[in-house]
Amino acid sequence: MAFADFANLLKASMGLDAASIGGSAVERAVLERVSACGVAGPDAYWQHVCASPVELQQLIEAVVVPETWFFRDRQAFSTLVRVAREAWRTTPADGVHRILSIPSSTGEEPYSIAMALFDAGVAGDRFCIDAVDISAHAITVAQAAVYGKNSFRGRELGFRARYFDATATGHRLADRVRRQVQFRQGNLLARDVAAEPTRYDAIFCRNLLIYFDRPTQERAVRALERLLAPDGVVLVAPCETGVLLNHGFVQLEAPSAFAFRRAGARPAERKAGRRKADSVLLRRFRLGPPPTSVPVARTAAAPPVPAADLASKTAAPAETVVNLDEAAELANRGRFEEAIERCEQHLLRSGPSAEVFHLIGLVRDASGNPTEAERCYRKALYLDPHHDEVLVHLMLLLEKAGKTSEAQRLRERTHRLQQGSRTKHAPTL
Ligand SMILES: C[S@@+](CC[C@H](N)C(=O)[O-])C[C@H]1O[C@@H](n2cnc3c(N)ncnc32)[C@H](O)[C@@H]1O
Repeated sequence: MAFADFANLLKASMGLDAASIGGSAVERAVLERVSACGVAGPDAYWQHVCASPVELQQLIEAVVVPETWFFRDRQAFSTLVRVAREAWRTTPADGVHRILSIPSSTGEEPYSIAMALFDAGVAGDRFCIDAVDISAHAITVAQAAVYGKNSFRGRELGFRARYFDATATGHRLADRVRRQVQFRQGNLLARDVAAEPTRYDAIFCRNLLIYFDRPTQERAVRALERLLAPDGVVLVAPCETGVLLNHGFVQLEAPSAFAFRRAGARPAERKAGRRKADSVLLRRFRLGPPPTSVPVARTAAAPPVPAADLASKTAAPAETVVNLDEAAELANRGRFEEAIERCEQHLLRSGPSAEVFHLIGLVRDASGNPTEAERCYRKALYLDPHHDEVLVHLMLLLEKAGKTSEAQRLRERTHRLQQGSRTKHAPTL
């Protein structure tokens, strides 16, 4: 029995595109299950897994990527708070905001939603959260709500002192947060989840679409649409924005990106259209500290930048501080050429930088010049081969251009990088 048959089985049952988790991951999972079941080999295991839904679930458990942590991509949670407040301004005083986290993995995401709303002063009876994941193991961990170091990343960990008690086995989440979330096992692509009668005001569907191929992404978006209230908001991961933009959603005009409504749900958003959506992407751009006004010599590691990139504009006066925040802001206002000019001045002052080429790439992308955008993303990656956002933007661009095999290679590279960070953050419970 070829491993490709197992990959097809997993695609049919959970939507997984085996290539997205690296070529040999399915093979490893099958061999692990062969050994756990004590069967003779993959052929015998194939018979077993096809006959047993319980074993199919075990195989699914062996391939899922449960990577998650509290307040992953913080802006998503502040956007949710803003959207909920906005909704309460227009709904009756007792309106309850219904939120779905799918996939919820081991619970960090839905619990972060609850903590963000509590932090914003929202009472527990004003919102409820359903949390769904295909992994029964992940749901069990989520319900236990005791977390190790790996779940707390980054510097802003004040919430840990507010909502957790340190215990011998890890940090235990406060009951009042736990009570806000109802967990259940479910598959986004299965009929029972899509047939769920609740219509959600907000759906977090982050870091799942990236594991699907295009037709499966389409099915997933249709399932999300069925679960979404008419004016509801879907939040995806930074690397998944292209999927919704390609399926009739518009990005919210919000001080953060990655939140979408159905096109036409709001008149203002209907007018804003695609260009606004792209400009919001720029707002999300993570800029380093502004450079000093003193020109910085290029580093030895930096590659030569074609003269045309730098010489087309006159050098900024020596006393000018070239601030990338301003460049991003100009881009957000649709003043693309001025934004590019600032970026080029920055390159002249401070030498090549992945951040600047990333921003120029985003501007070129937003202004409808994919060829130039691709060139800039490639330069950014040359300078910083591990820049995950550039990897993802280039991957989406290549996918759109139909360069699927290169896009696939980038997808695998992104995945390997994520796996690497996972190993670094080994659980320490
Ligand atoms: C990388 S985690 C994402 C968790 C969280 N949303 C986040 O962004 O941190 C991916 C999760 O998707 C779940 N999953 C995979 N396929 C699924 C499907 N078809 N339906 C529901 N959950 C699925 C996996 O079990 C895993 O827990």
